Amino acid sequence: MRAIVGKSIARAVEWLKAGEPVALPTETVYGLAAPLNSLSTIEKIYALKQRPKNNPLIVHVLDTLHLESVAEVSPLVMRLTERFWPGPLTLVLKRKSCVLDIVTAGQDTVAVRSPRAKLFRDVIQALGEPLVAPSANKFQHVSPTTAQHVLKDMGDVLAYILDGGPCIFGLESTILSLVDEQSPKILRYGPVSKEELEEFLGKKLATYKKEADNKDPHLSPGLFKKHYSPSTPLYLVSGLENYKPTGELQSVFFERSAHVFLFHPVRPLNPNEFVLSSRGDLYEVAANLFAMLQELDGQNFTSIWIEKAPERGLGNAINDRLSRAAHYKLF
Ligand code: TXA
Ligand code: MG
Repeated sequence: MRAIVGKSIARAVEWLKAGEPVALPTETVYGLAAPLNSLSTIEKIYALKQRPKNNPLIVHVLDTLHLESVAEVSPLVMRLTERFWPGPLTLVLKRKSCVLDIVTAGQDTVAVRSPRAKLFRDVIQALGEPLVAPSANKFQHVSPTTAQHVLKDMGDVLAYILDGGPCIFGLESTILSLVDEQSPKILRYGPVSKEELEEFLGKKLATYKKEADNKDPHLSPGLFKKHYSPSTPLYLVSGLENYKPTGELQSVFFERSAHVFLFHPVRPLNPNEFVLSSRGDLYEVAANLFAMLQELDGQNFTSIWIEKAPERGLGNAINDRLSRAAHYKLF
């Protein structure tokens, strides 16, 4: 099957009703969607992505009515949804028993978010039921931020890709676990920053870092160290402009390598140098990051060198993805 890339909501809904997963744009990354209650379509998602069945899916809802049909809500949950929905915040909550086990990987919790992207919302509305959707990439590949990325990675196995242009955030949603409401915990950094959540909740949030390598079933497999990897070796450094490689790294750094700056250095670029944000802000860096990795990976560079973001706000989410993608961290 060769996927059709189009802009028809009706066509997307037809395919979903016919039992075929459809790639849809969200404000974070493209998702591969199936109706919440369609076991066979959800099974296809796992097969097409080659994703292990122990990795649960996010339920995408239109509103809190949908939310209440799949999860236990509380006043705190309602406050968070009022402030951050629709948008890139996923909440992990106690599930309702009607949710299919395949969605939650058999856990007693369910991850839910309400996407902001209009096309995605229009599809949920037209279908009349929530959609489950992982990112529309094969397991451990870079998340797609354009319809063309989806076509490249999964076009051979999909029927329809709804094209909504490039995703505005370009990084997957922040995941916040409220399973223990007394100590909410960030399971994945994303566009809604830890600082923003801490300010809103009026307390410090637990971090997952130490546990990320453990086998705790309540942690997200997306947190495990290796993820989002390009195949060209990726070197992560703090500050590229003043970086001085030593020893064996000198030839790696200088020969057929791509150098990726967050912001434009104060000089013209060489042909092997690239900039993630010419405007000079981290939102633009995030929006261009996965596209840049995909593009450079497809060229004939023997290594890609990229610099860390400042460790605050959106910088944490960017560094999280970069560390998982990096083959070598030199700082
Ligand atoms: O921005 C996003 O969240 C995108 C778009 C398509 O909405 N979706 C996305 O889905 O990134 P996926 O499947 O690539 O990543 C979802 C992450 C996985 O790491 C999964 O383990 C975690 O969410 N997750 C899902 N249900 C969970 C649960 N009940 N408890 C803990 N983690 C969960
Ligand atoms: Mg993913």
